[in-house]
Amino acid sequence: MSDLNKFYKKKKILVTGNTGFKGAWLSETLISFNANVVGLSKDIPTKPSMYNILNLNKKMKTYFFDIKNLNKIKELIKKEKPDIIFHCAAQSLVLKSLQKPIETFNTNSIGSINLLESIKNYKKNLAIIMVTSDKCYYPTKKGYYRENSLLGGIEPYGASKAMAEIAIKSYYESYIKRNKKINLVTVRAGNVIGGGDWSRNRLLPDLFKNWKKNKIIKIRSPKANRPWQHVLEPVGAYIFIAKKIFKSKIFFKNYNIGPKGTSNLTVINLIHLINRNWKLRKIKFKIFEKKRTVEATNLNLNVAKIKKELGWENKLKINETIKFVCEWYGVYFKKNGDIKKITSDQIKKYFMLW
Ligand SMILES: NC(=O)c1ccc[n+]([C@@H]2O[C@H](COP(=O)([O-])OP(=O)(O)OC[C@H]3O[C@@H](n4cnc5c(N)ncnc54)[C@H](O)[C@@H]3O)[C@@H](O)[C@H]2O)c1
Repeated sequence: MSDLNKFYKKKKILVTGNTGFKGAWLSETLISFNANVVGLSKDIPTKPSMYNILNLNKKMKTYFFDIKNLNKIKELIKKEKPDIIFHCAAQSLVLKSLQKPIETFNTNSIGSINLLESIKNYKKNLAIIMVTSDKCYYPTKKGYYRENSLLGGIEPYGASKAMAEIAIKSYYESYIKRNKKINLVTVRAGNVIGGGDWSRNRLLPDLFKNWKKNKIIKIRSPKANRPWQHVLEPVGAYIFIAKKIFKSKIFFKNYNIGPKGTSNLTVINLIHLINRNWKLRKIKFKIFEKKRTVEATNLNLNVAKIKKELGWENKLKINETIKFVCEWYGVYFKKNGDIKKITSDQIKKYFMLW
């Protein structure tokens, strides 16, 4: 039995946002380590959804309510008494944040604080991984961010994540620090790709949805440079950090999570790479470059801190990441393709690299 299996077996884990893209991969992975996983989500955000595809409703209990409801979170925590919490619930889309700023700020900032408020007097050992985003940094021309770079988004999503970071730190300093049982980390991951993402206005879901309809995909920001990483990388990093900090003495840190520099690619180069690995009919695209965009053009994450302090680094090279992505969607679109098997094979393959 691997160390991860030993550690996670029978641990009670709360995954917020378990019906979303990352939350579903994280829950499936934890369940494969025999953890006892419960979830909290507002809804099932997409159709199709990874949560439904993997039949997670049969493998874990999910509480469906809004994270803005403090009393309900308190009740859940009291009832389930988790050992580890992975907080992934969020309004996670930049474009939607422009249409629904108040909802975004309330969910991402106040929602995070509701969770901390409900555990601040917790009596058991507890590790908490608070998922924010690399968009929490104030965008600069250079677009290169370390953990001590200035916080602050220029659009509501990024700003809500910066607010969450500031609020979490203040909550830690003011209350949680006194509770010797709790260890807490905020994680700022870069752009995530992988099978099972069906979110609106995200590059890869748009690409594969349009491919299926034989439509040409419009590329808005071909030169945008991003630290692409497979969803199993942040999932693996969260699992790794939680194990590391569980029972450690009074721990509060924040870490960037992303690939080493070589996995940074522009959108257009990413699409070329996908097309080279895509075994089915080619993906058609056309560039409709917009002059002004609220999203930063360059985003590079310095990931030296997590390597130095915890010994974590991403495992997959960009070619392997794209292979995983194309393999997964290839099976999904194949008649009678076994999607549960490919998901579980990819989880196994990924953790063999540890
Ligand atoms: N996907 C990425 O590229 C990426 C990159 C960096 C950071 N992140 C962060 O990772 C986390 C997970 O992202 P994702 O892509 O899986 O998101 P997602 O949109 O796929 O899922 C969001 C989840 O949060 C839940 N949720 C939304 N609002 C809620 C509310 N008010 N109350 C309770 N639950 C609510 C949804 O039901 C769903 O389960 C988010 O915090 C996101 O900001 C994502």
